[in-house]
Amino acid sequence: MTDKTDAKNAPAHVSQDRIVSFDFYNDPRLQDDLHDGLMKLRDEAPGVFWTPANGGHWVVLDPDAISTVLRSPKDFSSRQLQIPPRPDAPRMIPESLDPPEHLLYRRLMMSWFEPGRIKHLQSRVDYWTKHFISKVKDRGECEFVEDIASRIPVTVFMEFVGFPLERHEDFRSLIDGMFRSTSPEDSQHYAMKIMGELQALITARMEKREDDLLSRLIDADFGDRKLSFEELMSIGFLLFLAGLDTVTNAMSFGIRHMARHPGFQAELRANPDRSAEAAEELLRRYTFPNLPRQVAGDIELDGARMKAGDMVLCVIAMAGLDDALNPDATEVKLDREKRNHFAFGYGGHTCLGRHLAKMELETFYREWLAAIPDFRIDETKPRGQVRGGSVMGLSSLHLAWS
Ligand code: HEM
Repeated sequence: MTDKTDAKNAPAHVSQDRIVSFDFYNDPRLQDDLHDGLMKLRDEAPGVFWTPANGGHWVVLDPDAISTVLRSPKDFSSRQLQIPPRPDAPRMIPESLDPPEHLLYRRLMMSWFEPGRIKHLQSRVDYWTKHFISKVKDRGECEFVEDIASRIPVTVFMEFVGFPLERHEDFRSLIDGMFRSTSPEDSQHYAMKIMGELQALITARMEKREDDLLSRLIDADFGDRKLSFEELMSIGFLLFLAGLDTVTNAMSFGIRHMARHPGFQAELRANPDRSAEAAEELLRRYTFPNLPRQVAGDIELDGARMKAGDMVLCVIAMAGLDDALNPDATEVKLDREKRNHFAFGYGGHTCLGRHLAKMELETFYREWLAAIPDFRIDETKPRGQVRGGSVMGLSSLHLAWS
């Protein structure tokens, strides 16, 4: 998959046998089926290789090498999370920070994401899940991404952070606009609008606190001071990026698996108390984020010579799909003894929202299977496209049931 021009254009420190063409935004291998495409790539490429695509960067497929990268922030920094790198990219607290600064913010935020502190959200998650499922139940069909998967996370998120729920439809269209935009200009346009909403909400909460995350952030002691307006904006915007499209894609891959595997669907329908295991197993099998890092100083990884400033993309889906880590890795099994995956990342930046995400997914699978009879992919409708990038996903998923 490499032509001579690619090899000529690689920097001098990259050895020729490490060069493989791979465009993580739009690779032909991924278009038919994202995870099959990644496994195909694994068969063709070294565990750590250089692609000339997107300005040229390293791609790490090998799970051991991924864990080395993710637990070594001194060598692999989070300060630049864009590929190709964008020197003007705004800082995203806490994701684009390295230690020791990162830990200060992470410690501040951590306690609000722990299971005991989000327990009160369970009744709201139940309510919104049932609400959106009831809207499609009697129709016998739906476009799952549009009708369900993009809706539930937005409302839960709005309640958690403190956005007024009557604005739900406005928010959903802004968020959809941003995540589904096809050009950088479009995405920037929606990002600015979301920033505007965030700015208005922070201003309102500074005047009058409510029982929500934003009010707690405003009142929190950060060392001997409070968080600045800029810091609140940065945290708020990162939560938008981290907590919405991720849950949408997890639900979409999970439900697509059930639609394709009636046996698994029936097994879980008969055992609703196992929906937490199902959520974890489906995330393992269909992990979808890709994590960028920047090489801090010249270093060797798995025999590959890297230079300071090089960008590295960790394809974390490969851990869940590794047969040595998860026997029969492509099989989805409720009774797996142990699940080894990096779906929520690994090391210092491991997902803060994972307990909330699991609550949303577990609730959703249980309620969906209780309400919707045997469902399948609607083959009469166009098949959804795979979207690449740092959060990979499905553009649409048509389902039918009778
Ligand atoms: C299935 C859903 C989700 C998946 C698969 C997921 C995945 C991830 C991954 C892989 C990272 C690590 C990023 C890195 O190392 O650069 C991460 C970080 C993060 N996630 Fe999630 N996430 C999900 C849902 C959420 C939700 C619902 C929230 C909050 C509302 C959230 C908040 C965060 C935050 C704040 C970070 C940054 C942590 C840090 O830098 O210390 N995530 N997530």
